Amino acid sequence: MREVVSESFEQWRDQARNLLRQSVPPDGVHFVDAAQGQPMLAFPTEEKISFVRQAIKVPREFLSLAQTVSCFRDSSRWALLYRVLWRIIEGEFYLLQDHADPQMRELRLMEKAVRRDIHKMRAFVRFREAPGPVYIAWYRPEHLIVLINAPFFVRRFGAMNWSILTPEASAYWDQKELRFGPGVNRDALPQNDDIEDLWLTYYSSIFNPARANYAAMIAEMPASHWETLPESKLIRPLLREAEQRVMSMASRETPSARPYVPVSASLEILSEAVHQCRGCDLHEHATQPVFGVGPASAKIMMIGEQPGDQEDREGTPFIGPAGQLLNQALEAAGIERNHLYITNAVKHFRFETQGNLRRHLSPTGDHLIACRPWLEAEIAHVQPKIIVCLGASAAQTVMGRGVRIHEERGKWLPTHLSQRLLVTVHPSALLRMSMGMRRQEFSRFVGDLQLLHEEVVS
Ligand code: URA
Ligand code: SF4
Repeated sequence: MREVVSESFEQWRDQARNLLRQSVPPDGVHFVDAAQGQPMLAFPTEEKISFVRQAIKVPREFLSLAQTVSCFRDSSRWALLYRVLWRIIEGEFYLLQDHADPQMRELRLMEKAVRRDIHKMRAFVRFREAPGPVYIAWYRPEHLIVLINAPFFVRRFGAMNWSILTPEASAYWDQKELRFGPGVNRDALPQNDDIEDLWLTYYSSIFNPARANYAAMIAEMPASHWETLPESKLIRPLLREAEQRVMSMASRETPSARPYVPVSASLEILSEAVHQCRGCDLHEHATQPVFGVGPASAKIMMIGEQPGDQEDREGTPFIGPAGQLLNQALEAAGIERNHLYITNAVKHFRFETQGNLRRHLSPTGDHLIACRPWLEAEIAHVQPKIIVCLGASAAQTVMGRGVRIHEERGKWLPTHLSQRLLVTVHPSALLRMSMGMRRQEFSRFVGDLQLLHEEVVS
């Protein structure tokens, strides 16, 4: 029996690859978990290798499952992962989709437990201010999730120095680099309460009245956390207020995202909060909302219509066919996509199903109006010098009236939302044209975008 010590997902992955190349079956290897305190052993160098596989193709979905499961706090996970991987490589290609298979079921349960724990950590980590200033949080996760979860905290709290300390590992962010260190004892945490007021403000700004349900909130916050949370002081008044806010929402004639948009929240918080939006019916069938992306300091904000099929699945704007064409046009116009803030007038995908296909439907005027508060919040944050509307839906949202693209495109228009406004075609419109037309229209589109070029460099 061969003994292999795994400490991290990357290490396990490399070891599993080596073992598979040498056709070592699951029963021929004993995985030891370094995270449980056992000493580190070197991977044994090879004796006689009877059969060496050449290429080993591991499905990406398995790797992502394995990465999550690698955080599960139980030393049996490495061996279980290897067993399932072995079976996939041996030809059980559909194993990942098999919900009845006992080993897959066990992996899925582990995956679910880790995901829940990741989510819990995001909700319950509390920073306290220490001299520096540096914000320090001490947290005891159920699973080994510090490494996998730290990038989330970088995204959300990128503009401050922070450390998250846990019994097994610690993460440090200095606004430039994310580093990891050993575990830390709880006593390292300062005991002052400087940051609590800030937290209370944040909590009331993201509080969502439509979801307020005392029992559910208690269930989400286990009793062990409950007493130590500063926001527990806020919950009763918030619930009282929530009832009134829900009543006024229900009596609205026009659907609107307004009650769901946190006031003066950062882009990060807005992009989290949009997941709770029930401002119109579009969230019901879409996979997820798609919020804007790009630097908060962008000089140009580009606004499309709504996410398409691929954007809806992946959660990022303009990555499907229209996005590819947009990329080509931006490149031809000499504009860096990375410098733009790119978003859509409507955040959820509207479609109809035809067999297996999901066919795009344009949002109605009511959808545009309902979703506008999200766009307004994005504009208020980014304060772009220039707004570019791709197509009629974006133009209608921004200008508050119907717009004939072919009459108004390609010139600077007045607006109170930014210094300048440019309206041009939507790249999807080009995709619907014949090749000949498309080539000609593509050049016009590039010509419109070139107007921006002067502005970006100046
Ligand atoms: N079309 C849009 O308007 N937005 C996207 O994000 C993708 C396609
Ligand atoms: Fe809310 Fe906009 Fe989605 Fe409608 S489309 S649910 S308003 S985010």
